Amino acid sequence: MTIEQLTSAYKAAYQKSATDIFFSPGRVNLIGEHTDYNGGFVFPCALSFGTYLLMAPNDEQKMNFRSLNIDATYSLPLTQLTEVLPNKAWANYPLGVIAQFIKRGVALTHGYDILFWGNVPAGAGLSSSAAMEVVTAFAFNELLGTGYDRTELAKIGQKAEHEFAGVMCGIMDQFASAQGKQDHAIYLNCDTLHFDLVPIKLEGIKVVIANTHSPHHLDSGAYNDRVRQCQLAVQQISAVRPIKNLAELSQADFLQVETVITDPVAHRRARHVVGEVQRTMDAVQALQQGNIELFGQLMTQSHISLRDDYEVTGPQLDALAEAAWKIDGVLGSRMTGGGFGGCTVSLVKDEAIPTFIERVGKEYTEKTGLKADFYIAEIGDGAHRVR
Ligand code: GLA
Repeated sequence: MTIEQLTSAYKAAYQKSATDIFFSPGRVNLIGEHTDYNGGFVFPCALSFGTYLLMAPNDEQKMNFRSLNIDATYSLPLTQLTEVLPNKAWANYPLGVIAQFIKRGVALTHGYDILFWGNVPAGAGLSSSAAMEVVTAFAFNELLGTGYDRTELAKIGQKAEHEFAGVMCGIMDQFASAQGKQDHAIYLNCDTLHFDLVPIKLEGIKVVIANTHSPHHLDSGAYNDRVRQCQLAVQQISAVRPIKNLAELSQADFLQVETVITDPVAHRRARHVVGEVQRTMDAVQALQQGNIELFGQLMTQSHISLRDDYEVTGPQLDALAEAAWKIDGVLGSRMTGGGFGGCTVSLVKDEAIPTFIERVGKEYTEKTGLKADFYIAEIGDGAHRVR
């Protein structure tokens, strides 16, 4: 949809014009998976697709939420903006963000009529929910003049996800949506939140996203289990070597302490995290040295570890990645995001892209009965005002 089409849709929904339009992107993570809530490194980039928010003030003392993607609409009095809506209502994402402003003592003197439209496929592991959270945080920060910086806006989005969606996520998705930069990936230390923007200039190679169309169910279940298993490992390791986060351990440190983790599942989870943090550091170094082959190999190793030790891939993601590994001109391929469905990310040489799409698509359908979709990723900017 163009901006003109969006403004007409706003008029049709609210019988008036939008005064402000904002955008915040989805993200694809190149490497560093399930490391963020363990204080490790991640390496995501913002995508050119994301969520638009159009809004105008009203004099009703109500916050009205509509979306062009979902039918359900919500109209909430200003006195009811800190309560979670039942039945996994989509409006919990923006509501959760507004609630954080209120909890920080920001006063709302009137309501707004809000309309969302997003072009990140929902449930694809490309952070459509973070895009909605961050666009809301960015918009209210501008309109209420609260002056939070982008890192703070990412933290507000993360809190909304914890409190209003029940997912105890790390900071990666909201951070990428807030801080992304065109043609750059974000090398983020999730413990200190220090980050560097690393240019992604790949000569003759593209970042290709493949969607399983098997929606991930990033609800409180399997994801929060992983968070708890990592906490258990930290707790047991701390008996012999006090740590706050698994990412504090090098692989050599881990070999020295691993026997104190009595639970075999927690042990495997910890082994993934420690290895993935190292792979992420190695991958960024390889990229900076122009060694894209090594970067690709580390991506593939990341998938194997997420499959075998972290157990978050599942048959669909495995089918896509394993089909990709067989193709000449694929430097690496792995699941991206939380897992259990969603998308893979691959580095593919330009000349191999048609074969990649054809063969991976065919093998995937043969194995799963589903049809995959392919996009060439365009790395875009973080949250911004459109108009
Ligand atoms: C989801 C979470 C992130 C991160 C990834 C896995 O996308 O929202 O915080 O943990 O999974 O790397």
